[in-house]
Amino acid sequence: LAQVARKGSLVVRKFREQKEKRKAQQKHWEVAGTRIGDIMGVKKKEEEGDKLDAKGELDYKTDHKFADLLQDKTEAVSDFAKAKTLSEQRKFLPIYAVRNELLNVIRDNSIIIIVGETGSGKTTQLTQYLHEDGYTNYGMVGCTQPRRVAAMSVAKRVSEEIKCKLGEEVGYAIRFEDCTTEKTIIKYMTDGILLRESLRESDLDHYSAIIMDEAHERSLNTDVLFGLLREVISRRHDLKLIVTSATMNATKFASFFGNVPVFEIPGRCFPVELFFSKNTVEDYVDSAVKQAMQVHLQGMDGDLLIFMPGQEDIEVTCELISERLGELDDAPPLAILPIYSQLPSDLQAKIFQKAPDGVRKCVVATNIAETSLTVDGIMFVVDAGYCKLKVFNPKIGMDALSIYPISQANANQRSGRAGRTGPGHCYRLYTQRQYKNEMLTATVPEIQRTNLANVVLLLKSLGVQDLLQFHFMDPPPQDNILNSMYQLWILGALDNTGSLTPLGRQMVEFPLDPALSKMLIISLEMCCSAEILIIVSMLSVPAIFYRPKGREEDSDAAREKFQVPESDHLTFLNVYEQWKRNAYSASWCNEHFIHIKAMRKVREVRQQLKEIMDQQKMELISTGNEWDIVRKCICSSYFHQAARLKGIGEYVNVRTGMPCHLHPTSALFGMGYTPDYIVYHELIMTSKEYMQCVTSVDGHWLAELGPMFYSIKDASKTRQERKKVAVEEMNAMEEEMKRAEELIRARKEHQ
Ligand code: CDP
Ligand code: MG
Repeated sequence: LAQVARKGSLVVRKFREQKEKRKAQQKHWEVAGTRIGDIMGVKKKEEEGDKLDAKGELDYKTDHKFADLLQDKTEAVSDFAKAKTLSEQRKFLPIYAVRNELLNVIRDNSIIIIVGETGSGKTTQLTQYLHEDGYTNYGMVGCTQPRRVAAMSVAKRVSEEIKCKLGEEVGYAIRFEDCTTEKTIIKYMTDGILLRESLRESDLDHYSAIIMDEAHERSLNTDVLFGLLREVISRRHDLKLIVTSATMNATKFASFFGNVPVFEIPGRCFPVELFFSKNTVEDYVDSAVKQAMQVHLQGMDGDLLIFMPGQEDIEVTCELISERLGELDDAPPLAILPIYSQLPSDLQAKIFQKAPDGVRKCVVATNIAETSLTVDGIMFVVDAGYCKLKVFNPKIGMDALSIYPISQANANQRSGRAGRTGPGHCYRLYTQRQYKNEMLTATVPEIQRTNLANVVLLLKSLGVQDLLQFHFMDPPPQDNILNSMYQLWILGALDNTGSLTPLGRQMVEFPLDPALSKMLIISLEMCCSAEILIIVSMLSVPAIFYRPKGREEDSDAAREKFQVPESDHLTFLNVYEQWKRNAYSASWCNEHFIHIKAMRKVREVRQQLKEIMDQQKMELISTGNEWDIVRKCICSSYFHQAARLKGIGEYVNVRTGMPCHLHPTSALFGMGYTPDYIVYHELIMTSKEYMQCVTSVDGHWLAELGPMFYSIKDASKTRQERKKVAVEEMNAMEEEMKRAEELIRARKEHQ
């Protein structure tokens, strides 16, 4: 399993390679030496475009033809909803049978753990029960989710059940999107939002009850909140804390919070017949497509849910199923619905909509559909057996999102999805032996496998000096903490004793990754904060450009017009500035194959960051056309992620020597112009290590801004000697930090 996970799907790789080849064959950037692109040329095209384009706003919808079979209703109506009103549906949920009993236990205890099968009504009902029982009279009822999608979609559902406008009595908040008002009494949010709220208000006084939902997921932020909320409850006796989980880990949670009661919601589930693959599956996408076709064509009623590791696999799976169906003469209709976290929310909502009679739904999902979202009517599950996890990769010194085999606990949750409305079938695309021998019983919690830089920064600013003493349910490995502290030290957020520096303190104010916050703060000194603010905002929004089917060449050509040959960051800046010059027009975006919704989001993010800058008395200063300064500012925060040119189109990481490649969508790709040094925003690992979003930099800047790593070649020392000095310096730093931690601990113990 691990081997296949490393390679990924061959089918998907073939798709990707075809795409890259097409791209490489195209002619590139002919106007050598032009900085901002041929603005005149772009203008001319726009004018022509204006005349041609009378269609109005193109939308994300063009990307997904599969959803067309569904009725386009705004309210989500499930199959089951057809027969019943919303309030009847509420009474039908398993949690309703234990409503009063549950409220009694909550009344008698500050903390309780609630366990129930997925779909029993925990997420949508608990908040409403607490409201009905009067808890909202003296504070909000908050409910945290590890996933943004879940927070939004559940809030929408509950607002419909309560019959209010979303954002009024029931609202949600995710990063850069606050859909709540003064009226809000039930607030769904990501766990990251509550964590940040605890910075401003350490006792969370606005809340009378907090539900930490999906605790079994053990997301990083949830784990940190556990430690913090345990303390808050000991100070605030009027606050209720409810931790909910699918059917695992309950006793562990209970003992962490001091042997608190565990309440089980009696479940209602039907038997699910399991089919393991007889032979090892080499290509899970290919197998899943075959299995799905077989299920669909054999004619039994019921919707289908396919689990895939990530967006690209999902897209190719959808594509292939639709292709194969097209090849058949009279295949029954199938509504193919992708769902993953980066999918725009209107398309996400489609999975809950009812398909017309006689049309089967086929939802292709990441593990988002494992426990956080429940689609009614699923009778068949096809489980590829993989998921994407963020894992700290010591080789590259940062987190990488890669494919891993799922755990047995995941596998069981997935198969359970088939048995909610009747007996179901689950096809596992792995052998029984692989399930038993190669899968872990449960996934390693995120806190033990990822970079903790953000958490360290946050906890330090909450006054937690000694992180090794913080009460974690499962403490992160000491190396992880030290590594993250080292990264923060490199950025200048921590000093040699591991304490927050003024820069670090200011960085905490921004809901951004440490390097981005630093870039924004430094841009002030470098007099380019107006430009950097736009770049940071653009980096905080997924997918600006789109490539509709059948118009790939046109969209690539449009995209190339914006490319600034030395930088993807500047390309982003260029797009935004041109959009602004065109009065933030939707039709302009349309013509240039730019997602208007994404751009509007960028504008919102920019505004929100600007408000924080205002509070911090940080001015907006523009450097005008001096874009070299902007590149230098980018270098000041990303010097630790630098690569050096090795051969044609080949780069190696300056610090580790690891080969890394330009991404085909990069402005620098296939340009003929290949700078000696570049810095990159992030690495993505697919078939190769790709650098995503790169900017060319001057070698001297690296030495000036990252003196702890780089120096101008000193001919009097050999390479070995230089390396020795560097290693010694790093060891000394780590020793010093360890000593500081120990000192603090000793002092505490002494007290
Ligand atoms: O949290 P738990 O898994 O226990 O259940 P839930 O998410 O509260 O779901 C209860 C019911 O609401 C299920 O039947 C879902 O299908 C339905 N639901 C929905 O129709 N639309 C949503 N956006 C969310 C839930
Ligand atoms: Mg739930």
